[in-house]
Amino acid sequence: MTIIVTGGAGYIGAHVVRALADAGKDVVVVDDLSTSSAGRVRAHPLHRLDLAASDATNRLAAVLDQHRATGIIHLAAKKQVGESVARPEWYFRQNVGGLGTVLEAARAVGCDRLVFSSSAAVYGEPVGGVVTEDTPVAPINPYGQTKAVGEWMVRDAARAWGLRQVSLRYFNVAGAGHHDLGDPAVLNLMTLVLDRLEAREAPVVFGDDYPTPDGTCVRDYVHVADLADAHVAALNDLERDDRRYDTFDVATGRGVSVAEMLAAIAAVTGNAIEPRVVARRLGDPAVLVATAQRLRTELGWEPRHGLDDIVGSAWQAWVSQRESGVEPIRAAV
Ligand code: WQD
Repeated sequence: MTIIVTGGAGYIGAHVVRALADAGKDVVVVDDLSTSSAGRVRAHPLHRLDLAASDATNRLAAVLDQHRATGIIHLAAKKQVGESVARPEWYFRQNVGGLGTVLEAARAVGCDRLVFSSSAAVYGEPVGGVVTEDTPVAPINPYGQTKAVGEWMVRDAARAWGLRQVSLRYFNVAGAGHHDLGDPAVLNLMTLVLDRLEAREAPVVFGDDYPTPDGTCVRDYVHVADLADAHVAALNDLERDDRRYDTFDVATGRGVSVAEMLAAIAAVTGNAIEPRVVARRLGDPAVLVATAQRLRTELGWEPRHGLDDIVGSAWQAWVSQRESGVEPIRAAV
């Protein structure tokens, strides 16, 4: 049983690869190595491949064939909201085109199991802020739109040729399951704060006048190792003939405010954090939390890590990356 993981050398992908290997699966990585590193997945065959390139379908089909792949976990994608607003056509080519490649290649060789990485971004700014999978899909930026289109594409492939598919909608992913698998990208709250602390600068809070208990935005942070486990559960679930759902929020059901996150980071790192509060960031919903009940009920998944684990492991991995000379990846726009 060989599983192809696209984007497997990235931050989340490398955790998924380890979780699959721990579950006894043979894993092959497909990655363009644009924002990732081969060193994270040394134990597995790696094919360097840009899924949005014109010859990608044939090349990926050859990889699937060569390894007699039985399933695909498709994570490879661009994921920066701001960049997607600036370069929407490129985002559609990369994310929608890349998925098109995966589906064509899978169909060509008869590989009919697929786990697709979707995002909380498909919900846009939902009323009330607490969502379930039945909350309408209404993305407000090109990144979220590419994920919504992706969900339609995999569902259409299911109807057209019997693909067994599931979309996992990631909420705010953070932490590290292993010291060497930290998030090298300084793009999200956790790493942005750690980066500021290292530079001895004040972390920035985007607005403290939201209608939330402490005025800062509330999010649902999920440990990357728990997210990786959800992929294994979702892949195994594809073998069931009586599946009722093909979308799952991967979240904990627990909201954490920016101020609470800063307090947790202060406690773990031993820094007194005096943040600089600036204006709200455009497009930030006050609250974005999922009940995540479906994942618990249908797949028996439970998050094993709380906020302290998320922050503690992110910090350890951050320090370990610095010690091994890994350079942070910063926003392109
Ligand atoms: C978290 C909170 C900020 C930085 C993004 C994507 C989403 C999904 C998850 C992948 C917000 C606040 C942040 C800072 C701050 N990605 N913040 N100061 O925007 O919730 O979600 O990642 O699918 O699609 O949009 O994550 O980490 O940027 O922000 O105050 O320096 O922290 O306003 O409330 P976000 P984030």
